[in-house]
Amino acid sequence: MSVQKEVKRVTTKTLQEMKFKGERISMLTAYDFSMAKMVDAAGVDVILVGDSASNVMAGHETTLPITLDQMIYHASSVIKGTERALVVVDLPFGSYQGNSKEALTSAIRVMKETGAHSIKLEGGEEVVESIKRILSAGVPVMGHLGLTPQSIYKFGTYVVRAKEEEEANKLIHDAHLLQEAGCFAIVIEKVPAALAERVAKELTIPIIGIGAGGGVDGQVLVLHDMLGINTEFKPRFLRTYLNLFEQITGAIGNYVTDVKSRDFPNKNEQY
Ligand code: KIV
Repeated sequence: MSVQKEVKRVTTKTLQEMKFKGERISMLTAYDFSMAKMVDAAGVDVILVGDSASNVMAGHETTLPITLDQMIYHASSVIKGTERALVVVDLPFGSYQGNSKEALTSAIRVMKETGAHSIKLEGGEEVVESIKRILSAGVPVMGHLGLTPQSIYKFGTYVVRAKEEEEANKLIHDAHLLQEAGCFAIVIEKVPAALAERVAKELTIPIIGIGAGGGVDGQVLVLHDMLGINTEFKPRFLRTYLNLFEQITGAIGNYVTDVKSRDFPNKNEQY
């Protein structure tokens, strides 16, 4: 008789408990079934189907071109590869900024068509009405403040945000608004560590940082960056755990050599 080990799914409540216990939250992106399976098996708490798929999967320069249909495709592949992680899906640019009804329609499509557990959207005060409307339909929402890549043409650059007092105060104000609206967590991207730590201390919901220092409740990275697949992106905050670009091109190069030299397939590799 085989004993099936039941895996307990991470929920928004689990994340809240982790914050209270001071246990750090690990979050990574994934965009497809096979990678999601590995990320989940490795014990990552939250998998983000990020709109960074626009960059690392589709090769676009920004996150702006990816569509809701494409995000749904990625998310429905990821969800099949996970047993434990909470899966969050980015609402892409243009799918929620119009008005709160449009935001709700997009969030419902994601939940219905992918089986994911929550959505993430970028912005503060400007999107609070949409967040409340999505939440009223029972869909958990993660916020995203600081460097919000969907606004890159407004910022004009990917440099550290909220270094000046005015922008830092707006970020703190927005973080409180998102918490009051009912967000279960907030990603804070590329801001000074002291500011992110202050927000994490003031708020009761988890703050997940990327380029926001170690004083927050959890960390997120883009999978392709931390695995060294995407070698062109080397910001200071990124720690690379592998050099997969080199390893994969090396392995594929060996395959090409073996095919050309007729070493592959050998007698044992045929019928
Ligand atoms: O799309 C994404 O990968 C993200 C992370 C950078 C947080 O939003």
